[in-house]
Amino acid sequence: MSTSRQTAHQIISDRAKSITPSYTVKISTIARALQREGNDVIDLGIGEPDIPAPDAIKQAVANYATAGHKIYSDICGTPELLQAVIATMARDYDADYTISQVMGFDGGKVALDRVIETIINPGDEVILSLPAWVSYEPQIAMAGGIVKTIKTTIENRFKIQPQQLQNIISDRTKAIILCPLNNPTSTAYTADELAALGEVLKKHPDIWIISDDLYQHLHFKNNFPNILTVCPYLKSRTIIINGTTKSHSWRFGFLATECEEIISSMAKIQSHRSGHPNLETQAGAIQALKMGPVLASAESFRVRHDMLLPLLQKVMGWKVIPGDGAFYFFVNVEESMQQLKIDNDIEYAMQLLQKANVATVPGSAFGYAGYLRLSFCQSRDRLMEAVERIHVFNNE
Ligand SMILES: Cc1ncc(COP(=O)(O)O)c(C=O)c1O
Repeated sequence: MSTSRQTAHQIISDRAKSITPSYTVKISTIARALQREGNDVIDLGIGEPDIPAPDAIKQAVANYATAGHKIYSDICGTPELLQAVIATMARDYDADYTISQVMGFDGGKVALDRVIETIINPGDEVILSLPAWVSYEPQIAMAGGIVKTIKTTIENRFKIQPQQLQNIISDRTKAIILCPLNNPTSTAYTADELAALGEVLKKHPDIWIISDDLYQHLHFKNNFPNILTVCPYLKSRTIIINGTTKSHSWRFGFLATECEEIISSMAKIQSHRSGHPNLETQAGAIQALKMGPVLASAESFRVRHDMLLPLLQKVMGWKVIPGDGAFYFFVNVEESMQQLKIDNDIEYAMQLLQKANVATVPGSAFGYAGYLRLSFCQSRDRLMEAVERIHVFNNE
């Protein structure tokens, strides 16, 4: 057998080299390694709900796995799945779609990647607000797009102001990605705020609006405002991404758009990339979509949010604002960094992990230095223990 004499640098493509690894994955990998060495790490890094999938979903998957005899379906999903997506769009958005306007995926991430790849040409600009979920920027970059960022502020609860949007739009703007109940900040736009952004977008009819609504059903007040119902006049150029990953602990994503060419083009690409979501995934997703939101999940996170908020607000040098849903706090630690003489948030998260055994994600992972994201997908006892450790770390 001949062995390649190329160095790793020569083997790996320029595209692969240009991608920065995800900090969320990196910190979880270190946290797991520490756990394997016997350390009692509390993982506040991962954005994975700790609520198991409802029994009805597990049952639907088990039934399919035992009775199912098919391996392949249409690329977009089975007709039953697509009908469930259409019914979901009618129920949750009051919006009508047909079977050729919806598509199912193995996760929201796949839906986002596929649509970005499908509509973005090299040189097209895509607007993102910072802080932003970790994968938007690499996905846009891999499609050859140019990311144009709007920096939001904690004072504005990390929401784009209409004037900021107006200022960043150019002739090359192809799309904007909105995450109305946001990861990492857990703040949600109000209907009025979305309407104000809609007014700006109305003046620019060539801009596509991609709304990543994965956290819709984890809104604490169960009244997630969405761009479709607030601005129905934008429907023809709005692309909704949603799914059951965060709401039902069942990883599945779907997409809805009036533009049938987007769906057929995505299906063309998907047929060569990875194909349709596997049929067990589809069986669980059909059940999840039919059963609708699990209100107890949002409530469980709200209780933990309300318990943690006053405790975290007491940590020396931390600035913490309340969330509107999901399961994150996005905390300003700049003052604490100064007090502890730590240079940056990446080093801060690393020291918190190594000295206090608490895993978090540095704000830089979301394009926003000086912050930490803490998720609260842990039992209340473990969260209380984490707060204790954070206090000790800060008072060292
Ligand atoms: C804002 C946001 N969008 C999309 C996704 C991807 O979801 P999925 O796990 O279904 O691919 C995530 C997952 O963390 C997310 O936080």
